Amino acid sequence: MKNILTIFGGSGNLAYLKLYPALLNLDRLDQLPDSFRILAAARSKRSNEEFRLEIKKRLQLVESDPIILDRFLERITYISLSFKDLEDYSRLKKRIDTLDSKYSIENNRIFYLATSPDFFSIITKNLSDQNMINQETGNQKIVIEKPFGTDFESAKDLNDHLLEFIHEEDIYRIDHYLGKDMIANILYLRFSNPIFSGVWSKDYIDNIQIVASEEIGIQERGRYYDDSGALRDMVQKHLLQILGTVAMEMPDNFDTHCVQKEKIQIFKSLRIYNCSEVSEHIALGQYKENKQKSFKGYREEKGIKDDSLTETFAALEVFIDHPTWKGVPFYLKTGKRLDRKAVYITIEFKKDKKAEHMINKKFQSNILQIKIQPEEGINVRFNLKKPRVEDEISSVEMDFCKSCLVDYLAPDAYEKILSGLFKNEKLLFTTWEELKHTWHFIDPIAKSCSNTKKDLLSFYTAGTKGPESSIELIKKSGRHWWPY
Ligand code: BG6
Repeated sequence: MKNILTIFGGSGNLAYLKLYPALLNLDRLDQLPDSFRILAAARSKRSNEEFRLEIKKRLQLVESDPIILDRFLERITYISLSFKDLEDYSRLKKRIDTLDSKYSIENNRIFYLATSPDFFSIITKNLSDQNMINQETGNQKIVIEKPFGTDFESAKDLNDHLLEFIHEEDIYRIDHYLGKDMIANILYLRFSNPIFSGVWSKDYIDNIQIVASEEIGIQERGRYYDDSGALRDMVQKHLLQILGTVAMEMPDNFDTHCVQKEKIQIFKSLRIYNCSEVSEHIALGQYKENKQKSFKGYREEKGIKDDSLTETFAALEVFIDHPTWKGVPFYLKTGKRLDRKAVYITIEFKKDKKAEHMINKKFQSNILQIKIQPEEGINVRFNLKKPRVEDEISSVEMDFCKSCLVDYLAPDAYEKILSGLFKNEKLLFTTWEELKHTWHFIDPIAKSCSNTKKDLLSFYTAGTKGPESSIELIKKSGRHWWPY
């Protein structure tokens, strides 16, 4: 395995915060390709030395061993270029060719587009015009960061555009949630444990809740976020990917194709709401100022319009029109500036009415909670008789905290994804078919029903649990959000 990884947007936030730390860690663990170079491409003019120094300042915070750090920095070369200017790409090509022959890379090239999505098309076109990607050789890869489109049409345009220049097998679309260890673990939890696989259907499950709550606001990403909102930014990608993994049927095996095929079946079966149904199943919110906590309101954030109606919070009741899940609601919830950072899935099982009648006592539902972050683990709640009292039942818990284990060092999602990229592990990336169906589901809510969307928006104080309307959404069915 040998590679030159060219990162467009090589001096951007994503590269500094996620890509370089992840690559450094892989280097420390000797998990980079044998011959591996990084070419950081960005617009600003600076020398190689200046760029390495800049990265060094940042990475020193995570790497105390100077030998490891210097070895990593030595792999990096910087090139300043305009993403739009074709002539700059001939310089880029020369630089790549030089590195290739110096380090015997044998033409294995990865182009990682970590730029604003506005540049995805022009970069790929310019790469193709300079013959750096083509349909023939098959030893180049294009990595496309999120977001892949803003709706079905734009996503399709981008996809068609990419396919003009490169094969589907060589396109790697990022959804970094697929690199989270507990999300990958869902398949193993479900299919290697008959105690769970035997009860994974409408016959035993009452509802499933998928929650991704964030404490942070929109940070410096106002321009992007105001056109996106929680539905596109989180639900269409990360939350639906979790839903697909939780709901898919058992695949023939864990090969990429088989797993993705089953997941696509679920995305195809998502019930699509028309505008008159949207208000019944969706609650949206936007955070407002919290003086006590010194949190700005969304509309006061940099780059946000004073009268913006963009949702920073979304809760949805989703149904899957598939025999396994007939009548089972999936509740999804996500928001910025909530009271905590946590991603978790709660599976609430049906109560056995006959047993309740026979024991003549009311008892709680069984709960399985899969904790994805910050804590990673599994929590199961079940019923037992209270000690010394014959006729009282109480709900007790069994908790497995994976991230609390001594020496537990989960790979960061980007570390896993980059390592998967070098090994062509496409299960860690999304396919066009998946994106197509998830956009079909989100578009009516985020786009076509925009008038209804305005009516759905309610305001919540930053740093709290989100709008009341999300509690109402689930309460209507006699259920409630399970806490973490
Ligand atoms: C990104 C979104 O895809 O995921 C961000 O664009 C969000 O808005 C982030 O904050 C959440 O990722 P994580 O790994 O922190 O849960």
